[in-house]
Amino acid sequence: MKSPFKADILRGKVALLTGGGSGIGFEIATQFGKHGASVAIMGRRIDVLHSAVSTLQSFGIPAVGFEGDVRKKEDAKRVVDSTVKHFGKIDILVNAAAGNFLVSSEDLSPNGFRTVMDIDSVGTFTMCHEALVYLKKGGPGRSSSTGGTILNISATLHYTASWYQIHVSAAKAAVDAITRNLALEWGTDYDIRVNGIAPGPIGDTAGISKLAPEEINSKAREYMPLYKLGEKWDIAMAAVYLASDAGKYINGTTLVVDGGLWLSHPRH
Ligand code: HXC
Repeated sequence: MKSPFKADILRGKVALLTGGGSGIGFEIATQFGKHGASVAIMGRRIDVLHSAVSTLQSFGIPAVGFEGDVRKKEDAKRVVDSTVKHFGKIDILVNAAAGNFLVSSEDLSPNGFRTVMDIDSVGTFTMCHEALVYLKKGGPGRSSSTGGTILNISATLHYTASWYQIHVSAAKAAVDAITRNLALEWGTDYDIRVNGIAPGPIGDTAGISKLAPEEINSKAREYMPLYKLGEKWDIAMAAVYLASDAGKYINGTTLVVDGGLWLSHPRH
């Protein structure tokens, strides 16, 4: 689908995306690039990164991939520093790396719980922490008055409760808290805007293929306000908006992009 935004809305910006090699992270990287940004993507799977970078470059997007695991502080630092070495600065950090599997609380080991917390929550904080020096106003490659921006990919699972997703719900609740607290502290001190996006069920993603696609496709039509799954494009457009100057007064919010699903109940 054609973007409603002007193609230069992110011109001159440099974005670093964790989990940028596939799924929602890759679509955001693509749309950032198509709107003028240079993009660095970070991921654990080198083959996935290579193919993602080739695809981005085939669109004419300046792109580079860095292998790394957000659970490792040294990887986070290396990738942040390498991005700046490659492109000269970082304007936008997107935390899209996430881990997920369906398991009942009874069967989930504390280490399984910790693993998802480590990827989604601690990983998000670690990346923000390492990128701070480059995102703050007056940082390398940046004016003394304008900071960069952070986007944290969240979920809506934890607004209520979700079957077999206790670990992800806890992790995304922490992500939302990170978004709000960094928005307060770093918005005030460093002119860094920190926002989140909470996608609903998005077609053609690892998240949806793990969370019972047949049920969502057949039964949810009964009660989903917009009667359809979202597209990765929908999340990317929200990201373009929040990362651009159009969102310059938005700080500390998590934008729900789910067609109204989390609010709805079955008809009766
Ligand atoms: C129960 C599991 C499990 C499973 C792992 N564990 N998979 N427990 N059911 N299916 C437990 C293991 O037993 C172990 O605990 C601990 O977790 C660590 O497992 P490892 O395999 O060593 O971890 P690792 O190789 O680091 O992989 C972590 C991973 C990750 C979380 C499984 O590989 C992963 O999920 N990758 C997929 C990425 C993904 O799906 N991304 C999209 C996210 S979508 P013990 O106690 O045995 O040591 C998303 C959207 C949510 O987040 C919202 C949707 C609406």
